[in-house]
Amino acid sequence: MEKQLTPIKSLNGSIKVPGDKSISHRAVMFGSIAEGTTTINGFLPGEDCLSTISCFKKLGVKIEQINEQVTVEGKGISGLQPSKEELYVGNSGTTIRLMLGILANTPFTTVLTGDDSIAKRPMNRVTQPLKEMGAIIDGKEEGNKVPLKITGGSTKGIDYHSKIASAQVKSAILLAGLQGEGITSVTEPAKSRDHSERMLEAFGCSVDQKGLTVSLNAGQELKGTHIEVPGDISSAAFFLVAGAIIPESTISLKKVGLNPTRTGILDVLENMGAKIQFENVNSESSEPYGDLVIQTSKLKGTIIKGDLIPRLIDEIPIIALAATQAEGKTIIQDAHELRVKETDRIKTVVDELSKMGANIEATDDGMIIHGKTSLKGAQVDSYGDHRIGMMLSIASCIAKGETKLMNPEAVAVSYPSFFDQLKSLANHN
Ligand code: S3P
Repeated sequence: MEKQLTPIKSLNGSIKVPGDKSISHRAVMFGSIAEGTTTINGFLPGEDCLSTISCFKKLGVKIEQINEQVTVEGKGISGLQPSKEELYVGNSGTTIRLMLGILANTPFTTVLTGDDSIAKRPMNRVTQPLKEMGAIIDGKEEGNKVPLKITGGSTKGIDYHSKIASAQVKSAILLAGLQGEGITSVTEPAKSRDHSERMLEAFGCSVDQKGLTVSLNAGQELKGTHIEVPGDISSAAFFLVAGAIIPESTISLKKVGLNPTRTGILDVLENMGAKIQFENVNSESSEPYGDLVIQTSKLKGTIIKGDLIPRLIDEIPIIALAATQAEGKTIIQDAHELRVKETDRIKTVVDELSKMGANIEATDDGMIIHGKTSLKGAQVDSYGDHRIGMMLSIASCIAKGETKLMNPEAVAVSYPSFFDQLKSLANHN
């Protein structure tokens, strides 16, 4: 598919961005291995989270989903049944990596596979520690690439020191550690998102967190519960940047998740000079949330590196666009992980924004952007990467002339209502 996009004069109004993708996945997964019923409100009905539902249904879990409401009838982890077919995770890295952790101890064999993007992504970051714990895993490149075949063993606890700050790695190991025997600890080089830790506690498990180490004991039972999913700050990010860079704009974003392990984008935008107001903040809830109001702002360049990177890893494409509209130089470093996302996001961001006239260069672990540049309409491609598709759509709003976006349908992976919400805020005259 392709989509014709035209410049926009201003963006004004209020929207509720869809539910958080990471939290929606986990609510279905943890509900599926819990005893009893789990109800979910605010679920993200995007393709990735629907893949998670479809995989657990194939493992015999009864799940009913109507838009943002989901009911999961869990029968405990031992209630999972072998699947007759292979499990297809589509584009979803979170689905495959966390499911491998869950399946590390189930007494049957499961085959997992995904789309062309998943086929390129490294799985050994998860399969290698799970094998050390006792799971039997086979696959392309010795279990690094899909299709993967996993047979649950009787796993033993592990004290794992990860080289990368990755919530998918941390969560997979913790989920395997819940089963089998012993204590499992994961230590990261920097803190990654902690939704699994928070949600395991909501499901009645005890999780110990000291500095960069998270530990839990095997043999804990999850009990079905109710999960309220806040809006996804990674989706809100597109409208935060749009509001800041499009003239005469004010956008109010309702009930956005404000977990501190995810709010790096707010720190960076404020550092760059963006005017953001916080309203109705609820920090009592297990996942804090609040309303965000953004206005057109004069931005300046910044440096983004170190511990900040895991707190905004998925927002780097849209931050790069903001940097093209900021005075001065923006440097993004320590973001090597971008090379193994849905696309190589260092390459796709630099290639596609360059076509629109940005002054941007790739480095090994990030990019350097010189602003401020005026962008021009061009033919650009999401390459099937949802966040690249949305970033380029926002870029088209400020570009001179028309932009043709190839593969726009990718946005449905995390934000099916993206184009409708953009249209509802847009003023073309
Ligand atoms: C996610 C973790 C991050 C993130 C991804 C979702 C999660 O990946 O990029 O979109 O839900 O745990 P890594 O754990 O690989 O950094």
